[in-house]
Amino acid sequence: MKAAEPHPREAELLAAAAEARAGALCPFSKFPVGAAILDGAGRVWTGANVENASYTLGLCAERVALFYALAHGARDIQHVAIVTGAAAPSSPCGACRQILFEFAAAATVSSAVPDGQLLRTSVRELLPHGFDASSLT
Ligand code: THU
Repeated sequence: MKAAEPHPREAELLAAAAEARAGALCPFSKFPVGAAILDGAGRVWTGANVENASYTLGLCAERVALFYALAHGARDIQHVAIVTGAAAPSSPCGACRQILFEFAAAATVSSAVPDGQLLRTSVRELLPHGFDASSLT
């Protein structure tokens, strides 16, 4: 499916991401983010950002959700949904783009905010010419 086309489960995934956002631990930024990931078996995995006092070690919602999914056997990631409380939809940070490129290269990415604005893109669009295991040969 092309990135521009809505995934049939997009609304469900965004709702799951919005729910997961409530679990964010973000006392420093006060910027809660929720993410929901659909795997190739149709399972949904969620996560939220987690911050700690040594700021740089925290993890974004996308990586929490993706590592959680991978660690439970999820593969063939189809779709990543992200919800923030920002004024406009945001897209994943550079570190998350790298991880998504390596583990969810074919995924569509839908990012939404509570007023309904939506940014729909893809991992390939977010990180063209990315580096992955095939680059090591
Ligand atoms: N954050 C995410 O979880 N996902 C994004 O796509 C952007 C940023 C988190 C990281 C940090 O905890 C807070 O939002 C502010 O940057």
